[in-house]
Amino acid sequence: MNAVVFALPGNAALAAALAERLQIEAGRLTMRRFPDGETYLRFDTPVSGRLVLLASGLHDPDAKTLGLLFAAATARELGATAIGLVAPYLAYMRQDQRFRTGEGITSALFAQLVSRYVDWIVTVDPHLHRWKSLDDIYAIPSSVVAAAPLLADWIRRHVDSPVLIGPDAESEQWVSAVAHLAGAPHVVLEKTRHGDHDVTVSIPDPRLLQHRTPVLIDDIISTASTMIAAIRQVSGHGMPPAVCVGVHAIFAGEAYTELLAAGAAQIVTTNTILHASNGIDINYAIADAVAAFSSGEL
Ligand code: R5P
Repeated sequence: MNAVVFALPGNAALAAALAERLQIEAGRLTMRRFPDGETYLRFDTPVSGRLVLLASGLHDPDAKTLGLLFAAATARELGATAIGLVAPYLAYMRQDQRFRTGEGITSALFAQLVSRYVDWIVTVDPHLHRWKSLDDIYAIPSSVVAAAPLLADWIRRHVDSPVLIGPDAESEQWVSAVAHLAGAPHVVLEKTRHGDHDVTVSIPDPRLLQHRTPVLIDDIISTASTMIAAIRQVSGHGMPPAVCVGVHAIFAGEAYTELLAAGAAQIVTTNTILHASNGIDINYAIADAVAAFSSGEL
């Protein structure tokens, strides 16, 4: 079977990297809005009898999901043998329980929806907290690329004598893996979130941070409230300005400039979401995961 990769809007670089690394065709997909806001789409490259890869990061998911599902359904109607979704950032992972009566558990609802349209998913470090695996909510197979080796490599090459700091208990899984690979010590702060933009953190034992360069690590930087609170704690203990490392650069609203203004020495992220802070290219690691996952079909 020969595979073909299509870029959903905004995903040309990812699709090109997949095509180059996997030596498959980069197909043409026209997708645009009608004047009334509805979606028009057309596969300009034939898909019949082929494995179709849809390259579609899912940051800002409400604007992207309908087009993605239309594309998947159309590819299937046109005879694609299988449809793989390559979504470096997987949306809707954080609402993983009913925190207040009546709330929707949108992580599970989104997973059920996507599972109806594609056959498998490759993604990067989904925000697994109460869900232990994507299999808990997705009815289709998935492959998860870990950013930790790339983050560790970047830290080794760019930061002298680092101490890695996870801003909350949820970050422990990422920061401990990166610390192990980077050969650096790490600490995890205690966080309380009072609202979307209102976060407090505390350092359990400041002595662990002495004489080292603080490197804050988190999977998602959204409002940056978590990173900003952590920077304030760290600088309050007389440490040098912190380097901030994130996997997924959401940076909602003015978050990026606010994080710089809070005193970050440097901010670096992977390119799972395109952003000025991207300094770690993860596309080839994603391509390798796609190859391993769909071996024999490429
Ligand atoms: C949540 O626990 C995540 O790991 C991040 O800490 C969180 O999503 C960051 O969000 P924000 O940048 O809005 O504080």
